[in-house]
Amino acid sequence: MRCLVYLTYCVAVSCALAVVQPLPNVQQAAPPAFCHDQECPKYSVTQSFTGYELRHYEESVWVATNLTTMEFTQNDSSEMFFKLFHYISGNNSKHVKIPMTTPVILKVEHGPGPTCESFFYDHFMVPFEFQDDPPVPTDPSVYITVLPPFDVYVKSFGGRPSFDEKMAMIESLVTEIADPSRFEERFYYFAGYDGPYTINHRHNEVWLVARH
Ligand SMILES: *[C@@H]1O[C@H](CO)[C@@H](O)[C@H](O)[C@H]1NC(C)=O
Ligand SMILES: *[C@@H]1O[C@H](CO)[C@@H](O)[C@H](O)[C@H]1NC(C)=O
Ligand SMILES: *[C@@H]1O[C@H](CO)[C@@H](O)[C@H](O)[C@H]1NC(C)=O
Repeated sequence: MRCLVYLTYCVAVSCALAVVQPLPNVQQAAPPAFCHDQECPKYSVTQSFTGYELRHYEESVWVATNLTTMEFTQNDSSEMFFKLFHYISGNNSKHVKIPMTTPVILKVEHGPGPTCESFFYDHFMVPFEFQDDPPVPTDPSVYITVLPPFDVYVKSFGGRPSFDEKMAMIESLVTEIADPSRFEERFYYFAGYDGPYTINHRHNEVWLVARH
């Protein structure tokens, strides 16, 4: 099933064609409302389009874990989440509790060649006060990683999307950008801003990294 989804994605990428219109820069004044009272990575909106926007993110430090699989299950998803959750709960070199941040971002990267194997990377942002010297994870499959400054096309949507619904949003974003030379085709991100107990105003995003 997943293979079919990826193939559809590839077809959508190679078929897309059109021109996007730049708009003037819009700076981010305060953290957006959808971060609620949690820290989230700093960005500015550099262009707005119908249905999506282009953001510039500053460098940021994350705790991450990864998995290579042909089929990404709910079990895989919660296992990765809890590895990171244990890190912030005190399973780290300083035995400190680290506040939760938002969003949780999942990077999905297609494997090379004809197999369906893909690489999944789950990330929590390290709070700003810890970014200069983050506690070291005690779990060897959990690690600290720096995301360099980057530009990303972002499409936002609400609800509680399934993996397939998120894939469909990626495909919509691909169609809307309409020019595959503008973004990295090998990988994309899902960003989820809410825990399972948030009922209203849930916020989700799909990201495609802009190419220069
Ligand atoms: C979830 O994954 C773990 C580790 O791979 C495995 O031990 C466990 O049996 C899995 N659970 C289910 C319900 O598949
Ligand atoms: C904490 O890390 C240790 C060492 O990796 C591991 O054995 C233990 O299960 C972890 N505990 C939690 C709550 O993640
Ligand atoms: C994936 O995780 C392992 C630790 O389990 C790490 O050594 C490796 O560098 C990670 N891969 C990438 C591409 O970050």
